[in-house]
Amino acid sequence: PFKAVWAPDGREVDVPAHLSLLDALRRDGIPVESSCEAGVCGTCRLALLSGEVEHHDSVLTEDERLTSVVACVSRAVSPEVVVGP
Ligand code: FES
Repeated sequence: PFKAVWAPDGREVDVPAHLSLLDALRRDGIPVESSCEAGVCGTCRLALLSGEVEHHDSVLTEDERLTSVVACVSRAVSPEVVVGP
């Protein structure tokens, strides 16, 4: 489990182990578009503003991984991440 902060309004979202970052954000009413939900299309890509992520997608380059997170499959390894559209 970890906490995601939605940068546009500072909302804090708990992401339990059984939910993806994508589903946890949506559950709290934050609209994030998705398509494949398997880490291959990049539709659910978010800006990663702080925190450390373990990337499980197959779409981002190593450089993009420094500043982006694919919300359907990747998770934080730090207690908190700050993400945005
Ligand atoms: Fe396709 Fe997340 S929805 S990568």
